[in-house]
Amino acid sequence: MLKSSQNPRHIAIIMDGNGRWARKRGLPRTEGHKEGIKTVERIIEAGIEQGIEILTLYAFSLENWKRPSTEVRALMQLLREFLIEKREFLKKERVKLISIGERKRLPMSLQRELEKTEELTKDNKGLILNIALSYGSRREIVNAVKKIAQEVKEGRLNIERISERTFSHYLYTKTLPDPDLLIRTSGELRISNFLLYQISYTELYFTPKLWPDFQKEDLLEAIANFKKRKRRFGGLSEEDS
Ligand code: FPP
Repeated sequence: MLKSSQNPRHIAIIMDGNGRWARKRGLPRTEGHKEGIKTVERIIEAGIEQGIEILTLYAFSLENWKRPSTEVRALMQLLREFLIEKREFLKKERVKLISIGERKRLPMSLQRELEKTEELTKDNKGLILNIALSYGSRREIVNAVKKIAQEVKEGRLNIERISERTFSHYLYTKTLPDPDLLIRTSGELRISNFLLYQISYTELYFTPKLWPDFQKEDLLEAIANFKKRKRRFGGLSEEDS
């Protein structure tokens, strides 16, 4: 487990820069999001081609609810259309779609399409496409603490038995391994409340490319870069020991 040299199993992506891509062209920000959907489509294809097991995409954060309502509405509509239009593709490619985040805050029409797509793809054994929607990592952690506190209070959980592993079972990502590689586009060097517990030992990769400009080759480059890294998980590598 010390050297990576293998493909990452789980890649998480902060898809940033849609707005700037549009502004640079004198277009409304929503045009950037539309172009961003095209990138999502090619990166899913590339993920399948590369045999990636899990792709987690940060599509909408809890903080994104603060954006103007026109932009929020447009994004919700784009996500809904994506689910409707891509359902057959996901089925054909054996992609299993799941989602993390505060689903109840999403418009009912989007919730319905999410449920339908999840149901249709639930037995698929190919790529797991995990969409973070209305997601915030601090909120996820606080909610986990609340659930654990409740179980302790009701005598169903012994404090001594709360381990890191137990804790992770109270997160949205309980069925998934931690990301091996986290990519952020657009040159921003921050995590923006994404998977804070889960990325403790994740390799980070930042690229100045804006999300709509991100190509399959860029994903391959990030994977190649990952493979060159030595993962020590706090231990020593073979050469050092
Ligand atoms: C960040 O760019 C991007 C978003 C907030 C939305 C991301 C959504 C998509 C790419 C489309 C839907 C996704 C799926 C999974 C179908 P920004 O608007 O913050 O750009 P800026 O930083 O340049 O303003």
